[in-house]
Amino acid sequence: MADLDRQAEAILRANDRGGYTVPTAGLYPYQWNWDSAFAALGFAEFDLDRAWRELETLAEGAWGNGMWPHILFRSDDPDYFPGPSVWRAGEAIPSSGVSQPPVAATIARALYERDRPLGAERLVGLFPKLLAWRDWFHRDRAGSTGAIVVTHPWESGRDNSPDWDAAMANVEVAELPPYERRDTGHVDQSMRPTKADYDRYLTLVAWGRDAGWQTGRITAEGPFAVADPTMTFILMRADRDLAALAGALGETAAAERLRADHARALEAASSLWCEDLQAYAARDERSGAFAEGITSAALLAWYAGLRDPAHEAALLATLHALFDAAPHALPSFDPRHPKFDAKRYWRGPVWAIVNWMVARGLHEAGHETEAARLRADTRRLIEGAGFYEYFDPRDGAGAGGPDFTWTAAIWLAWASPSKNEEWN
Ligand code: GLC
Repeated sequence: MADLDRQAEAILRANDRGGYTVPTAGLYPYQWNWDSAFAALGFAEFDLDRAWRELETLAEGAWGNGMWPHILFRSDDPDYFPGPSVWRAGEAIPSSGVSQPPVAATIARALYERDRPLGAERLVGLFPKLLAWRDWFHRDRAGSTGAIVVTHPWESGRDNSPDWDAAMANVEVAELPPYERRDTGHVDQSMRPTKADYDRYLTLVAWGRDAGWQTGRITAEGPFAVADPTMTFILMRADRDLAALAGALGETAAAERLRADHARALEAASSLWCEDLQAYAARDERSGAFAEGITSAALLAWYAGLRDPAHEAALLATLHALFDAAPHALPSFDPRHPKFDAKRYWRGPVWAIVNWMVARGLHEAGHETEAARLRADTRRLIEGAGFYEYFDPRDGAGAGGPDFTWTAAIWLAWASPSKNEEWN
């Protein structure tokens, strides 16, 4: 498999635009937030300096309020919509107006652990910005229970998940100037969000823009606010990793503050437990209603460090039910549900990055069989189909964009047979 290792490395190099990496050429021509964090994890396998650089360029786009935006528009590429002239946001660098899950903090810790003296040097600039970002989440995106709210489906990183359906249906579509989507010129329409989705995505962008991108106000008053297990769990994980880094860097006050907040986050997370689904689930901040089906986000609880004895056995049973429902794990949405769609993005397909996070949590919680299953499936999918954006959980076909940065990165860091024994 050394051949696939070489291919994965070549993909990262080819998607490198000089200090930052695009998710895939064409479809996603800018720097995306969590994609960059995963790119750093991949680069760390062969160029640790370049890995740090990826996080540093991402941090250059941070806003004064602490937020790291979900896209940095370092150029204006007419091949992508909606670009900087629609968002009209950003400070040092034009950007989108929402964030994305803060995996960068966890990956900064992984890089630090590979070479501590180098890490301590690179974190001098980066650590305060990571801290400011997590403070922003807790200040401007905390919902009524403390669980973290997303104000746009794009903020969650799971764009068209059924988790957003009910809240999206309540978004009244604004009068929009005529627009032309560019994504469907790159990838078949059947694999992408629908026109109704896009009208609402753009309505939410317009609302935020009209609100001057005041992020706290958008959370409190905007047309879309859903407490999201992805964001809540990934932030909990980020807080733990930042606390560890704070300890290592001698930032004692920050370390204590982070640990204290973590205790509160445990309570917030339990507000996302849904008895009907026997899983954690997204919850509409305005109506209080839970989402209607199980998404892979629920299984990030272990990655968060959540070990709630009241729910652990049930959650494990839910994971097994998803394993049994499709040959390739982990489907992003429950294959037993009528809304399951094996090729449409976050309504069914398998994503290598999610497998990595879920497996890592399972491994840390001692669920080695399940963790190994996820690694084996990720490996088989990539070996069989190549480095696609995501995969069909029924037949294993690759879908979305090809030569995808984060799939290559997950291969190098975890799925490749050359990483057999390691859990970075
Ligand atoms: C899509 C995905 C999101 C990702 C982006 C770039 O919007 O849903 O998670 O960050 O593409 O790959």
